[in-house]
Amino acid sequence: MKQNACLEIFLKDSEFARGNSKIYLGDALDYYHKWDSPTVIISDGPYGLGSYPGDPETPTELPTVYRPHVEAWSKYAMPSTTLWFWNSELGWATVHPLLSENGWEFRNCHIWDKGISHIAGNTNTKTLRKFPVVSEVCVQYVRKVTFMAGGQKLSMRDWLRHEWSRTGLPFSKTNEASGMKNAATRKYFTKCHLWYFPPPEAFQAFVDYANKFGDPNGRPYFSIDGKESLTATEWEKMRAKFYCHNGTTNVWRENAVRGIERLKEQHKCIHMNQKPLKLLGLCIEASSDKDDVIWEPFGGLCSASIAAHKFKRHSFASEIIPEFFDIACQRLGNYDVF
Ligand SMILES: C[S@@+](CC[C@H](N)C(=O)[O-])C[C@H]1O[C@@H](n2cnc3c(N)ncnc32)[C@H](O)[C@@H]1O
Repeated sequence: MKQNACLEIFLKDSEFARGNSKIYLGDALDYYHKWDSPTVIISDGPYGLGSYPGDPETPTELPTVYRPHVEAWSKYAMPSTTLWFWNSELGWATVHPLLSENGWEFRNCHIWDKGISHIAGNTNTKTLRKFPVVSEVCVQYVRKVTFMAGGQKLSMRDWLRHEWSRTGLPFSKTNEASGMKNAATRKYFTKCHLWYFPPPEAFQAFVDYANKFGDPNGRPYFSIDGKESLTATEWEKMRAKFYCHNGTTNVWRENAVRGIERLKEQHKCIHMNQKPLKLLGLCIEASSDKDDVIWEPFGGLCSASIAAHKFKRHSFASEIIPEFFDIACQRLGNYDVF
């Protein structure tokens, strides 16, 4: 193992670390169990386009390829984990049922619009018989959180109603509990699609009120283990983080990587799928805080890990092709040049 104290770099044949950013050589499936639980998973894996060694030729095979990964993500995710799933439109459509079946709830589809310059002078629509494609998608998923109550699996919304019903108190009392005139029943205890996740302070107020005035035989209320009620902090961790800068929409207009950011060897792009740091930074900033853990199972040149390092997150990445792994490690070691 080599160590460079100045950059806090550690290097083994199959492992590279700079501070809290780590890249591993090999199949992600061999590493998930060793990595800290992720706040964010950035998946930019097989597309079914045959665009790098090992990428299936068609999207049809994608569910088989992704299944063990998706199962592992579900196993190691927290209720607050966000998944950003990058792919072609058809690749995503093919894998979506697998994600859904494994507890990943669709939140939003983002279109990466690479702009007309992406195809300039490079398309023959008479042969293609379609409009030129200048997009990819990055789809945001969160965990579908459920609670067991009375032998039933309940959604978060139904569980809140279930717990309040157990107190024997009328729902109108949730307004008094949280000091919100008519708003708590309408927002946090409604059965309809206008339901909102109660903020931690409101949740704590419901817990305190229920435990104080609810049927003494049913205590504790809003508890998972039947022994202690959830705290405001625990409740906050039941959903994914999300921060949005004003003006950002689900269409991301950004050129494909070029200039100094594009890694090349003898004028040839090293990896056809290198993603813009700006977009990976957007995903990371939107769904995590400083010191949170980012996973990048399909590293390539490990652009998500570079962005994670920049924003002071901890990261774990893997790349199965040694040439890409080596370059990703050098990149992480030198990333300040960008
Ligand atoms: C689409 S590229 C990722 C590009 C990356 N986002 C970047 O900006 O450089 C997918 C990468 O995942 C790697 N890969 C595929 N299957 C893998 C697996 N099971 N474990 C680790 N890496 C894998 C491929 O070798 C390829 O380099």
